[in-house]
Amino acid sequence: PQVTISDGSSRVSAALSTGESVEVLLFGATVLSWKDAAGNEKLWLSKDTKLDGSKGVRGGIPLVFPLFGPATPNHEATSKLPQHGLARTARWEFLGKSTSEGSSSSSSVKLDFGLSSDTLAESTKALWPYKFGLLYSVTLDRESLTTTLVITNDGEESFDCQMLLHTYFNIKDISAVQIAGLEDSKYVDKLDGAKTKTESSSPVTFSGEMDRVYTPAKGPGHPIVVSDSGRPCFRIVRDNLDQVVVWNPWIEKAQEMSDFAPKDGYKNMVCVEAGSVDGWQKLDKGDAFEGAQTIYIL
Ligand code: BG6
Repeated sequence: PQVTISDGSSRVSAALSTGESVEVLLFGATVLSWKDAAGNEKLWLSKDTKLDGSKGVRGGIPLVFPLFGPATPNHEATSKLPQHGLARTARWEFLGKSTSEGSSSSSSVKLDFGLSSDTLAESTKALWPYKFGLLYSVTLDRESLTTTLVITNDGEESFDCQMLLHTYFNIKDISAVQIAGLEDSKYVDKLDGAKTKTESSSPVTFSGEMDRVYTPAKGPGHPIVVSDSGRPCFRIVRDNLDQVVVWNPWIEKAQEMSDFAPKDGYKNMVCVEAGSVDGWQKLDKGDAFEGAQTIYIL
């Protein structure tokens, strides 16, 4: 597998000899692109996204840490942070690659990225003054992409955190998308006063804006399958991530987002976001939390 550091060292890309590729922006360690062997893009990326760290990337896989959603006054420790925390805009360090050659069907490449409180800008540190380390691994296989985040508490003081892998999937037609694996699950409807509801026994479909935090009834070991026009296209397998956020901004919210383009791009994207965002993970000195997803191309 080939690894290229490109674009004035702001991006790292890797490709397998069979053609699959991945590209990661050092701002946020955001996966910007993931292509199959035929060159088909699997992730949606806004044409007007910022890529300079002034804002989270609108597309790809932004990393949410240590706060999901907007800050709330009832959780004092994260109340100064911007929506979705600090990791998605911080500049990460590329730590290196490891490859496994095997036969062409088993070759893979893993890219590692790190972020530590020690290297954050003082202004960012002031928003959340804990000592932490993040290790993010992006593994490209022939049929899948695995993203793993390990959070460590490197300080004396305990902290609370949330994490989420905010994946924007590239799809053909949102009106024909179905998400299976969330049947009969409890969810928080962020569009309806954060009321807790229960999903029906059918797959999730879209006919308007959606913003829901599911806790899948079948548990994290059970896959989520995204289908497009009747054809299953992605299988998401979670490790240690109990929630799945499903988001599509639809017409009006897409209009309101300055970095969202084209404006009818909401038809070609769906966010299915594996995370640990219901309550908080409390990490004491020396503790670690690891959460991961593997997305299989079907
Ligand atoms: C989702 C949230 O995860 O991210 C939505 O559930 C939010 O409420 C969306 O609108 C996008 O957030 P942002 O900060 O990238 O505009």
